[in-house]
Amino acid sequence: MNIVWATSEAAPYAKTGGLADVSYSLPYALAENGHNVSVFMPYYPQVMAEKCADTECVYELLGVPFGEGNEEWARIRRHKVSENLSFYFIEFDRFFDRPKLYDWDGNEYSDNAERFIFLSRAIMQAVLALDIKVDVLHSNDWHTSLCNVYVKSALYNGFDNFKQTKSIITIHNIGYQGVFSKSNLYWTGLGWEYFNVHCFEFYDKLNFLKAGVLTADMATTVSPTYAEEILSPEYGFGLENPLQHRAAQGKLRGILNGIDVLEWDPATDNLLPHHFSHNDLSGKALCKVALQKEFGMEVRADVPIYGVVSRLAEQKGLDVFIACLDKMLEEDDAQFVIVGSGEKWQEVALADYAKAYPDRFGCHIGYSNKLAHLVEAGADFFVMPSRYEPCGLNQMYSMKYGTVPIVRSTGGLEDTVSNYSIDNIDSATGFKFYDLYPDALRETMRWAASIYRNDFLAFETVMKNGMTSDFSWHHTAVEYEDLYQHANTKFGS
Ligand code: ADP
Ligand code: GLC
Repeated sequence: MNIVWATSEAAPYAKTGGLADVSYSLPYALAENGHNVSVFMPYYPQVMAEKCADTECVYELLGVPFGEGNEEWARIRRHKVSENLSFYFIEFDRFFDRPKLYDWDGNEYSDNAERFIFLSRAIMQAVLALDIKVDVLHSNDWHTSLCNVYVKSALYNGFDNFKQTKSIITIHNIGYQGVFSKSNLYWTGLGWEYFNVHCFEFYDKLNFLKAGVLTADMATTVSPTYAEEILSPEYGFGLENPLQHRAAQGKLRGILNGIDVLEWDPATDNLLPHHFSHNDLSGKALCKVALQKEFGMEVRADVPIYGVVSRLAEQKGLDVFIACLDKMLEEDDAQFVIVGSGEKWQEVALADYAKAYPDRFGCHIGYSNKLAHLVEAGADFFVMPSRYEPCGLNQMYSMKYGTVPIVRSTGGLEDTVSNYSIDNIDSATGFKFYDLYPDALRETMRWAASIYRNDFLAFETVMKNGMTSDFSWHHTAVEYEDLYQHANTKFGS
């Protein structure tokens, strides 16, 4: 199949979260299975120039209709990863030559509607310019969901390139929907007939994600539990009704993400100072020492370390983690290491704890892939108290690295972590709690630490269960292939 994958970010080129990891690994897995995969994303020169030094310009003058009677000119660069996997970058500096992808200093760029309308339109034009006969067009989140609208529209459905196209959208995070003033419809080139409840209209505004979900042949999300959760008002962020409608038609499916087991393998990870595997954990103990040293904490083998690597956003529930800290730092013999950035108040609170307890609390405010790998390897526990979690990749990375996850039971965390209890030591991979309250999280962290201290054999079994679990993309890719084959292209059916 010829698969076109549309995204706003992909690792290693530009990344703010898990969407980037998925946008490399899943296309890679599909290409390995023999499909021709073309990934399209913006060229963000300030973020990715270095990594893209060897890209070739494959199209100099891509005309992109933008607004009435207006055309802009973009370039297409290509990084060919293998014979059947290419990354294409849309180069248009007015929109993408920015220091960060979506926002600056916590404020969304005011022209995000225009930027991502432009991206979606440019992807459609690029497909025509490169003459790709698209069997599957797969968009991701609101940034590229207009591709799903375009492919069914009179602007594109007459082209041979899109005659056989099955249109898929994956929701990675329904907390971000791309809701904008309806005046932005002007930039899309689509008429007001699209501004209705069956497409863009959402409380008199445009909702890009809604339009994508309602026009795609199939919508997916990144775990089975999240696919159910988003049908409820608590998790649906206002889209629960359209999603219930799609689910009733059999057009919503939850497919669990995998992880890149080549990048995230403690036996070969070149970002780690020492290597290890479930057969030989001595390198993990050395990584713990390296982690303690890196963050200036007391070097001790016997103290449990709780690690966090995360965006500091409401979604991640770290406000609840912060609410546990005073008591735990006062009463528990434990260390904490956090790598993250996001909401200012959380950054300040965490940095303050690091100042107040330098030998027990390590904190790096900012983005660091190297430190992320070190935390995954050197900590004993990985904490994810998410309010909601569509899938979550970090808990899977941590299990692979023998760092036992402590998670709230929601979304992909529910689907990937098996809760420890006396009865299921042989299959348990972590610790779960249900109610998002500081007491619940704190007592679960303490419960986990008590197993670590008092029953190390059981702890090691849980750790090794995680290390030997199969989180590879293989199963996910097979499920997507099945979805691609069976998606029905009849519009609105
Ligand atoms: P989300 O996409 O919601 O942020 P995921 O768990 O799916 O959550 O993916 C997060 C990805 O981003 C992981 O690869 C994680 O290691 C990485 N990450 C998040 N914050 C940081 C950070 N401050 N430094 C390095 N990596 C980070
Ligand atoms: C989103 C979600 C996260 C998921 C990732 C990749 O960023 O918040 O849970 O793992 O997308 O699908």
